[in-house]
Amino acid sequence: MQKKRILITGCGGMLGQAVYERFSTDYDVKATDIDVNEPWLSYLDVRDHAAVEKAMLSFKPDFVFHLAALTDLEYCEAHPDEAYKTNTLGTENVALLAKEFDIPMVYISTAGIFDGQKDQYHDYDTPNPLSHYGKSKYYAELFVRQHLTKYFVVRAGWMMGGGKKKDKKFVAKIVQQIKAGKKEIFAVTDLYGTPTYTHHFAQNLHHIIQTRYYGLYNMVSGGGATRYDVAAEILKILKLDSTIQLVPTTTDKTSTFFSQTYTAPRPRSEQLLNLRLNHRDLNTMQDWRVALREYIERDWIHEV
Ligand SMILES: NC(=O)c1ccc[n+]([C@@H]2O[C@H](COP(=O)([O-])OP(=O)(O)OC[C@H]3O[C@@H](n4cnc5c(N)ncnc54)[C@H](OP(=O)(O)O)[C@@H]3O)[C@@H](O)[C@H]2O)c1
Repeated sequence: MQKKRILITGCGGMLGQAVYERFSTDYDVKATDIDVNEPWLSYLDVRDHAAVEKAMLSFKPDFVFHLAALTDLEYCEAHPDEAYKTNTLGTENVALLAKEFDIPMVYISTAGIFDGQKDQYHDYDTPNPLSHYGKSKYYAELFVRQHLTKYFVVRAGWMMGGGKKKDKKFVAKIVQQIKAGKKEIFAVTDLYGTPTYTHHFAQNLHHIIQTRYYGLYNMVSGGGATRYDVAAEILKILKLDSTIQLVPTTTDKTSTFFSQTYTAPRPRSEQLLNLRLNHRDLNTMQDWRVALREYIERDWIHEV
């Protein structure tokens, strides 16, 4: 039987690595990005409607997975025009073409569309993004939800994955400090989120696209955490908790550590609950501590 075909945008990043690994075994995948950092990637810029159309016309995908985005919050805050052009308009381009070609679209959204007034957010809660990154992703989500019927909008939390080559986020930042020989590591105790392991996310995505239960899904690893909790767990897994001191800090303006490095507004809490996945009995995500251990043992343990 002929394999189904998936066109993936933004596949050169943290999540793309795991999605490519999971899907290329049983789908015919055309993986694209503007950062062509793997032999299996080809160039495609989602801001260019004609280029996406050309890729669809020649590859004839059965699905389009849209991962492409500018994901650095500080960069998006400083360059809002670029953020909206890539994250919102780029998504509109892909959605318009998914509609024209009548294929289901997967769009990866984010927990960062909430304002943090609540402790936890389920799928039906109303977003109120604070940052340009959050807004650009939310307007894109709205476009997909308003214009398509065959879509999976899947919201991830604090992404963990990609290893030495691709991880741009918290786990890599902590491991880099360990590698640099730091004996004191600072982590905030007043930001709450749900870590999301890319490989488990890709596996659960594989599961849901087999169904026709289209719509919006929160899809994060189980349980919630602060950044401090995640850093503490990393040290524990690496058996460095007695040699490196983890210093609790806060996002308070008086904390120069945080306010000078992280200038974009962040919600106090962006913890998600996988309510709809649970209700449909489609939730295969594991606890974040289990996921973090799997990630560290797979990608980082030999680096420190
Ligand atoms: N990272 C997180 O914590 C997180 C959390 C929730 C949701 N998400 C969402 O998950 C998706 C995947 O993110 P990720 O974590 O894998 O981030 P990532 O590592 O930054 O991957 C995104 C990829 O998209 C590429 N890209 C940027 N502009 C593009 C364009 N115009 N056309 C095509 N590709 C473009 C990026 O290239 P450059 O590196 O050159 O910019 C990068 O390779 C994104 O939609 C993101 O918003 C991420």
